[in-house]
Amino acid sequence: MMKNTIRLLSSLFAGVACISTAYAQHSPVKSVGNVNDVKISEQQVNITTQNAYAEVAVYSPSVIRVRLDKQPLAPDFSFAVFAKPQQTKATINQDDNQVSITTDSLKLVITKKPFTTTFYTPDGRVISQDEKGLSTSWVNESVTTYKHMQDDEHFIGLGEKTGNLDRKGSGYTNWNSDTFGYRTDQDPIYSTIPFYIGIHHNLNYGIFMDNTYQSDFNFGASNNRFSSFGARGGEMKYYFIYHKHLADIITSYTALTGRMKMPPMWSLGYQQNRYSYYPDTEVYRIAQTLREKKIPADGITLDIHYMDKYKVFTWDKNRFPDPAKLTAKLKDMGLKLTLIVDPGVKTEAGYPVYEDGLKNNIFIKYSDSTNYTGQVWPGWCHFPDFTGEKGRTWWHGQIKKYADVGVSGIWNDMNEISTWGQKMPDNVIFDYEGQKVSHLQAHNVYGLEMARASFEGYRKALDNKRPFILTRSGYAGLQRYTAIWTGDNRAEDDHMLMGVRLLSSLGVSGVAFSAMDIGGFTGNPSVALYTRWMQVGAFTPYFRNHTQVNTKSAEPWAFGEEALEIARNYINLRYRLLPYLYSSFYEATQNGHPIVRSLAINYTFDPKVYSVAYQNQYEFGNAFMIAPFAGADTYGTVYFPEGNWYNLYNDEMIAGKQEKISRISTQQLPVFVKESSIIPMQSLIQSTAEKPTDTLTVHIYKGSRNNSFVYYEDDGESYNYENGTYYKRTITYNAAKRQIVFGKPEGSLNSKFKNIKVQLHGFADNDKVMLNNKSANTKTEFVSFLTPISTFDPQGVANVAEGHNVKSLTFGNSNSQITLGY
Ligand code: GLC
Repeated sequence: MMKNTIRLLSSLFAGVACISTAYAQHSPVKSVGNVNDVKISEQQVNITTQNAYAEVAVYSPSVIRVRLDKQPLAPDFSFAVFAKPQQTKATINQDDNQVSITTDSLKLVITKKPFTTTFYTPDGRVISQDEKGLSTSWVNESVTTYKHMQDDEHFIGLGEKTGNLDRKGSGYTNWNSDTFGYRTDQDPIYSTIPFYIGIHHNLNYGIFMDNTYQSDFNFGASNNRFSSFGARGGEMKYYFIYHKHLADIITSYTALTGRMKMPPMWSLGYQQNRYSYYPDTEVYRIAQTLREKKIPADGITLDIHYMDKYKVFTWDKNRFPDPAKLTAKLKDMGLKLTLIVDPGVKTEAGYPVYEDGLKNNIFIKYSDSTNYTGQVWPGWCHFPDFTGEKGRTWWHGQIKKYADVGVSGIWNDMNEISTWGQKMPDNVIFDYEGQKVSHLQAHNVYGLEMARASFEGYRKALDNKRPFILTRSGYAGLQRYTAIWTGDNRAEDDHMLMGVRLLSSLGVSGVAFSAMDIGGFTGNPSVALYTRWMQVGAFTPYFRNHTQVNTKSAEPWAFGEEALEIARNYINLRYRLLPYLYSSFYEATQNGHPIVRSLAINYTFDPKVYSVAYQNQYEFGNAFMIAPFAGADTYGTVYFPEGNWYNLYNDEMIAGKQEKISRISTQQLPVFVKESSIIPMQSLIQSTAEKPTDTLTVHIYKGSRNNSFVYYEDDGESYNYENGTYYKRTITYNAAKRQIVFGKPEGSLNSKFKNIKVQLHGFADNDKVMLNNKSANTKTEFVSFLTPISTFDPQGVANVAEGHNVKSLTFGNSNSQITLGY
């Protein structure tokens, strides 16, 4: 009886087990399953599960990488990450139920039944955990990791993605696409950066999934359980980054994917462009008008009409008979030339670039080894394979031709790859550093590798001079080689505001050098929108005015006298701010912090910064807060985060943690300065080829927080700074000590400024100023950041002549420490 019962029960259990195994076996979703085997080494754990192979490696105390595949893991490879794991102290233990990895900054626990990960702070708070029951799984070749959606979690990042700053509630796809005149919620657009930051319960973390296949992210888009990331092929490979401060997450992310090099100084000046300026006499007219109208500028860009029938590496001989003369004449006028290049090489017998490409066998191919042919500007084209050394080296040889005639910048376009129709077949094969992969795997890195080929080739060609490289398409890590712009936007208010968010999002995703077409590419902006956009443009990293073929002229003088004066005012301000901007770029080279900073970077746990009402506000470097509004807005509400703020134009002090409604003028962009800020400025110049006066004016805003600013100079054009030829000094504001200290300069270069003038904002009359412990005589000076505009402001709000008196003090720029007290 007893025996029978046991038999019955065991066959019942077997039945249940059988059903669930059958369910799992027949499910189209394959999960990682239970852990079978664990191998621990110093900084790494290798795990075999029922259905997968995993490798978990400590990269630094704050970064852990997780790899998972259905098959044994392939050798590690990446186009984005060149960094190797740092030697890190890690304690790795296991028992029957779990494996734990502990560093000084973070703890990862992997449960064994089934394989699930949970990341904790050292004091045991959950930062991120796999969604129970889902974890990581495969559907055919697609792999996805599901993370539990934390209460009130915000998500930012993913690079060039439209939509809101906070990505909660949305889903995104990465598949680089040519999206002419895209909508403000269109996805995907041109570029792929599969990195985001999650924020909840006063914690923040970053996840970078390094996979170049089409990838998908879901931040609770029509699901209330999880945030997820996955790709349509390849392995699951993600880096988990945890720091207390969001800015440090960007630093760690850029330690993995690399940082930008110092840009050439001229690329930070104003750039004039349209599709297209031709012939050369038109280029001279534009250059001449910029100078006559006293609009500071450093660059003119030539679009596809400079080429002979759109054939890359050719010139239209009628329109541009003497390119070397053109660049030389522009140089005399303080202007550099940037040229557009497209990857498509026209398949035309006798066209040397095509013939040479064929001879060297550098084009991407169908699986039967015939070259792939697709249509783009010049007609039928082949496409160089930038994903392999051979293709890139070939490109270096071609691009040199532009250096030989004095071209300074290379603008890489159509590199998604764009072919009319957008449907490149899957069976096109790319080298992918010798791995020979299909279009599905290589598509998203083609743009990155084209920009890399242009950068590396042009760097060689210009000898030791810095090239300026711009790209439309890219992948994580693009900041190592290039600046990026956000493609074919529209001349609409929503586009301008969304453009600001694209730049903010690129910024948190490791890309400091970014741009949008100022004025809008498609369509014609209203006067109000144009002027507002030019104002905002002055506070973006790469400042280029661009518009489509057949639109109205969009140079600063094309919208009437008032618009011209407003645009000039802000371009002037930009040029005066170059010492500040250049130093901010230096910061980006050191720690990856962007120029356009979403408020989420410094005010991460203030929920207001994620609200749709304030999501367009951003910091420009670490001193300014910009509040962009639509061109014709007459009222606007600005949110002031914690701390005190100064109105740039009149020094009015505004307390933080409040929303404030104010009238908005077309003549003034709302710009505010954070208390305790240190802002070095120079005299107005018309081009960076011109020398400013020998006085550096440092604006200091009284405040109650401590602050420091690394002031940086170098020659602005070579890589000599990499060998110590720079001038750098840290300026600190110590609120408690009531001191401003100009630290001892470092580097082997002398400053170009002989004198330092300090202008003290918000200081009281009875603040006695001391210079190196001796009482100093200060003057009262009137400061105004804009020039009065001759036309009346119809809204009667702004008097741009407004300014304010400040205490001012000038002293010699000595190489020893300088201390100011008050
Ligand atoms: C693409 C680019 C645009 C350029 C045009 C012509 O649309 O995005 O900036 O002007 O091609 O080359």
